[in-house]
Amino acid sequence: MRFSSIRARVLYLAGVFSLLLVSSVTLATYFFVADGMSRSAQDTTWRLTQIASRSIARTTTSVKLDAAAKGLEGVEREHEAERQLLRAIPDILASGGAEEGAYALYLEDEGGVLRLVWYSDKAGVSELEVPRRLAIERQQPIQSGPGSTGAITGMFTSADLGTYVVHVPLILPDRTQGVLDVVYTPDKEEAILDSARAPMFIAAAFALLVAILMMQIIMSWVLSLVDNVRMAADSIDAGQLDISLPEEGEHEITELARSLNNLMDRLRLRAEAQTRFVADASHELATPVAGIRGYVNILRDWGSEDPTTRDEAVAAIDRESRRMAKLCSDLLSMIRSEEMLEYRHVRYDINALSREALATAATRYIGKGLEFTGPDEGPLWVVGDPDRIEELLGILLDNAGKYTPAGGSIVVETHKRRDRASVEIKDTGIGIPEKDLPNVFERFYRSDASRSKDTGGFGLGLAIAKHIVDMSQGSITVSSRVGVGTTFHIELPRTRIKE
Ligand SMILES: Nc1ncnc2c1ncn2[C@@H]1O[C@H](COP(=O)(O)OP(=O)(O)OP(=O)(O)O)[C@@H](O)[C@H]1O
Ligand SMILES: [Mg+2]
Repeated sequence: MRFSSIRARVLYLAGVFSLLLVSSVTLATYFFVADGMSRSAQDTTWRLTQIASRSIARTTTSVKLDAAAKGLEGVEREHEAERQLLRAIPDILASGGAEEGAYALYLEDEGGVLRLVWYSDKAGVSELEVPRRLAIERQQPIQSGPGSTGAITGMFTSADLGTYVVHVPLILPDRTQGVLDVVYTPDKEEAILDSARAPMFIAAAFALLVAILMMQIIMSWVLSLVDNVRMAADSIDAGQLDISLPEEGEHEITELARSLNNLMDRLRLRAEAQTRFVADASHELATPVAGIRGYVNILRDWGSEDPTTRDEAVAAIDRESRRMAKLCSDLLSMIRSEEMLEYRHVRYDINALSREALATAATRYIGKGLEFTGPDEGPLWVVGDPDRIEELLGILLDNAGKYTPAGGSIVVETHKRRDRASVEIKDTGIGIPEKDLPNVFERFYRSDASRSKDTGGFGLGLAIAKHIVDMSQGSITVSSRVGVGTTFHIELPRTRIKE
């Protein structure tokens, strides 16, 4: 798998993204749990502090009463009470729910210096001089700590929530100032954190794996769809246009497949039309060429001996070569009309243009005794390319002249519609059989009736006419009755057409 491939890139991105997501969720969870544990440790510390303070207060009262009961007075009574209290402290802090903590008792000596006089556990002893002094000054418990080495380290090594210390100020019966340090080491909470670490990492790794796997599955699915499209593109490249891509589902790739199928359909139709055109054109060219070759053979064999045969052959070669010349010029005209990219949009008078086209056609069929009638009303303005429209009228009038027997009439009528102009070319000619009507605009199509008559056409005129009308964004229809006549109906836009 190349790194530049979509699959590699998406997998790489998905990997990085999932890693970031899973790590942040894991981190957040760890911090959440660690925070809960440190709160619990804090609560425990204050609970121990409360238990210790209450027990000491209770014991202070009872030792004072005890000393009074012994009949001691003044300083002696105070000393006795203090002695009893100090003796009782280790026991009261080792029971009644205070066992979880470690304790250290500091008392001020004559010089005002706080000295350690007793501790329950080495863990309770610390160098926290300043907060102890503060507790005496304010006469209220002060917390210092926990002072952990940081939550992050606990994620990878054993958890360390620090040590929780509360300094409780005391005034002994002889008014000596003292501080009791209540120390809590949250081993229990750290153990919970430690036990949560492994499952948390396993869950994170699992989530990461599932995310990447899902991504891989989705990518494979998408790429398989893309692969179909690629195969279609390859088949176009190989000239095979008859395959169609699956269009199941309603997603972006289906839309792409649909567009490609449409494209292939269009290309197929165009390729078929082209093949048909080339076949028809070569067939039409082959006929006069075969004729010329035949007459050349006749000329070679008998031309020198028989002047009549020679003249006939030369006349036939002349006729066939003219036919070829006309076909070539028609083909060129058609190719030109199909490749014509530029279509002018100028305002012109369709009535005047029709009269000109009629005059040109009339001169061509001058010996046939046809009656040509054109629109005699004033200008009817339309927008388009007058040269192309004149060519169009020329083709239709040429047909009318060609397929109308001597003595017939040819009429051009124009009508003004709302945003269009309609032009009708009517003749009283041989007509087009109904079965041929749908095909007359196809290239090389000639109805049997005209084929049997030697009118010398190739069936290209109406194909060119149709193309010109399409370029003008107009429409052309034909109606005809055999032996009665034919009418071509054209609609052209009167205002500027959309590009
Ligand atoms: N006015 C008409 N009257 C009768 N038949 C017509 C008329 N116009 C067209 N046709 C029929 O339609 C066919 C196609 O016409 P089209 O102009 O394309 O070809 P063509 O006139 O035969 O040859 P070309 O125009 O290439 O010299 C004609 O062969 C003819 O059969
Ligand atoms: Mg024609």
